[in-house]
Amino acid sequence: MKSKTIRFWENVEENPPKSYKEFFEEERKFLLKHIPQNCILLDVGCGDGRNLGFFSSICKKVFGIDNDKYSIKKSKEIACTLKNVEVTLEDAEKTHFNDKTFDIIAIIGTFCNLGKTKQKVLLEMKRVLKDNGFLIITIYNENALKERLKIYNKYNFKKFVHKGNGTIIINNIISEQFSKEQIGEILNTAGFKIIDIFKGSIFYLIKSKKRLN
Ligand SMILES: C[S@@+](CC[C@H](N)C(=O)[O-])C[C@H]1O[C@@H](n2cnc3c(N)ncnc32)[C@H](O)[C@@H]1O
Repeated sequence: MKSKTIRFWENVEENPPKSYKEFFEEERKFLLKHIPQNCILLDVGCGDGRNLGFFSSICKKVFGIDNDKYSIKKSKEIACTLKNVEVTLEDAEKTHFNDKTFDIIAIIGTFCNLGKTKQKVLLEMKRVLKDNGFLIITIYNENALKERLKIYNKYNFKKFVHKGNGTIIINNIISEQFSKEQIGEILNTAGFKIIDIFKGSIFYLIKSKKRLN
């Protein structure tokens, strides 16, 4: 069955409103600025493979993971046209990768859907990230709620529940937004520190690295 998260995301990708268009455009610029040539990159929650071709053009090797079968089917259709991309169906909480494999880990749009598993996922990412590697996360910011609600209404997610503080549950899937302080604290708890952060109208783009003790 087609996953509800990715179906929603595909709708937004196809016809983004101004706020989301800015999000996607700034995201690309940020990624281009921060991803070094010839690196090994992990795309966490690669979805329908929106970024795989882009990552493939910069990196030596790209791995994409998603825990949703439909997403992986779509991503595989893209990956099989690219020489340096592999995608696998697996959960970011526990992956098959060896310790310190990646130069860059990119969690693009996916972090907002992790709910209570955030710390477990971040600790797994810390394990598979090289000590001199970078974790790049893109998330909704504290001002995103109005634009998010417009989108949820537009695509007829009539059953979404707003739990307060920008936390929305749609068909049992959580979607959150964060202030700079909140995301800083979450990353800090998992042993990461923010080294660059860009604030857009509805989003933050964040580059962080491991705190080495
Ligand atoms: C909002 S979509 C973003 C997709 C893609 N990164 C993009 O920007 O177009 C979130 C994706 O993360 C996946 N996902 C959510 N939680 C996950 C987890 N714990 N492990 C792996 N994938 C996950 C979902 O299945 C979905 O495809």
